[in-house]
Amino acid sequence: MIERPEPHILVVTLNRPDRRNALNTQMGLDMVELFGALYVDQEDVRCIVLTGSGSKAFCAGGDLKQRNNMTDESWQSQHAVFEKMTMALMDCPVPIIAAVNGAAFGGGFEMALSADFIYAARSARFAQTETRLGIMPGAGGTQNLPRACGVRRAKEIIFTAEQFTAEQALEWGIVNKLCDDERLMDEALATARQIAANAPIAVRQAKKSIGMATQTDLKTGYAYEIEAYNRMVPTEDRMEGVRAFNEKRDPNFKGR
Ligand code: COA
Repeated sequence: MIERPEPHILVVTLNRPDRRNALNTQMGLDMVELFGALYVDQEDVRCIVLTGSGSKAFCAGGDLKQRNNMTDESWQSQHAVFEKMTMALMDCPVPIIAAVNGAAFGGGFEMALSADFIYAARSARFAQTETRLGIMPGAGGTQNLPRACGVRRAKEIIFTAEQFTAEQALEWGIVNKLCDDERLMDEALATARQIAANAPIAVRQAKKSIGMATQTDLKTGYAYEIEAYNRMVPTEDRMEGVRAFNEKRDPNFKGR
């Protein structure tokens, strides 16, 4: 489900509450289509909040009913869809906040990890359950989790498949903020609003540049940052930001 509750903000809700928003092939295809389109044209979207329908789950991971007795071939082709989805999330030029309500298990946890950062309801629970199911994380979990909480904690989480609380997730650096359950969306939207008020090209370029920080050495990353920076120099928004400061008013950014 896609909503635009206010200008520049998109709320994407995983919407299969009776299946705890488990990820089936169709949901994967929908996500590929949505985030693929946003890669090409962000329109006026400046921040995305990704959440789950209902209070029980953000996403219960891969749909284990659909996967029951799947042939190797079907499993592989479904996984290819999930790989595309993961890439589309990670490549999304617009910041994504995952607002985790309830369980984020398996592929659901990985989906949240593919966002830029996570806000969690106090009652949220996390687990990388795959090894208990005879599989392993395949939607970026072995890559994004160690980057979030360090290699040793990630190993413990993935090898044991044990669930953990939102408070532990906060302590381990996986989650940026804990919110009272009923305040989760308000808090995620408040942050989305702050992001959306900033210069969109600047935010997008910063996101790209931060993406390089974990992928390359410092000097190569810094060279990339300078290139990303130079993209903003000829923008109207650069002029507007400094002008607004001098005129003691809020800037009005246009994304050009
Ligand atoms: N795939 C398909 N259906 C799922 C599902 C999944 N991953 N997770 C939950 N469901 C279904 C249940 O089978 C149940 O359906 P039913 O009413 O037909 O039996 C319904 O959703 C509600 O699930 P239930 O377990 O009763 O809800 P809960 O709120 O008590 O617990 C979870 C929610 C997510 C903690 C629990 O369902 C769970 O552990 N699911 C498996 C998660 C997992 O390991 N995912 C990794 C997949 S790679």
